Amino acid sequence: MEFKNLLLEVSESVATLTVNRPQSLNALNSELLNELECAFYQLELDPEVKVVVLTGAGEKAFVAGADIKEMATMTPLGAHQFALKGQRVLLALEKMKKPVIAAVNGYALGGGLELALACDFLYASENAKIGFPEVTLGIMPGFGGTQNLARLIGPKRAKELIFSGKMIPAQKAEAWGVVNELFPAQELLAKTLETARGIAAQGLIGVGYAKDAITHGLDMAKEDGFRYEAALFGVLFGTADQREGMAAFVEKRKANFTGN
Ligand code: COA
Repeated sequence: MEFKNLLLEVSESVATLTVNRPQSLNALNSELLNELECAFYQLELDPEVKVVVLTGAGEKAFVAGADIKEMATMTPLGAHQFALKGQRVLLALEKMKKPVIAAVNGYALGGGLELALACDFLYASENAKIGFPEVTLGIMPGFGGTQNLARLIGPKRAKELIFSGKMIPAQKAEAWGVVNELFPAQELLAKTLETARGIAAQGLIGVGYAKDAITHGLDMAKEDGFRYEAALFGVLFGTADQREGMAAFVEKRKANFTGN
């Protein structure tokens, strides 16, 4: 499918999906949210794609939030539906079976930070800034930010960030555990792609099941999470990848995984 606001490139089993509205610092309007939803389903179904990298066009922003110009005239019902749409799209991203890494190349604000938080993990450029400026606009985060940020960094830090509306530098985001690693801006994409290719070479049924166990396990009582993990672990022993991975170890060669 052709996208107006997204760039999609697939190389060596890794898809790079770029939010491409640089004139608005990649702000998320309804059209862009619809395109993201289509792109996530398309990437999930594409057998050529094993890992996804999500980034923003231009040097300034990953995504500077939901589109304020579109939101400015929304009715309460329209705003409720806009939040539900944003949440549905970001949940579709969170639920993708394939790993998704955010390469945060600048401002990740409001809906942009929510988009990044819906990815499996984040790398960022040293000059990136993150925050939830919604209270400065008289509103609050609405695409899952209050839930995902509090679960990730705890309610105290989440409340400080959301109540103040302040942006924090990438270094503080890394110290708080929002971002896994920082890179100089010009190296960010190459470093992210390097990690993505490394993951793409692994047994991807195992990677996908591990993602499932972590994501869903966090919503379960611990012993239920353990039981779920053990069940998925057992299922993997019916796969060709498990036989290949263990045979390769015994035969002292590199495994050639097929995802079966
Ligand atoms: N929605 C709509 N348009 C946005 C936008 C957003 N979230 N963020 C930036 N833009 C637009 C600006 O309106 C401007 O467009 P214009 O040239 O037609 O006026 C363009 O992107 C460039 O932004 P500008 O503000 O000129 O860049 P800057 O470098 O001076 O400031 C930011 C960068 C990120 C600090 C500033 O754009 C900003 O505060 N954006 C809003 C962030 C926000 O509140 N996000 C949460 C929304 S819920």
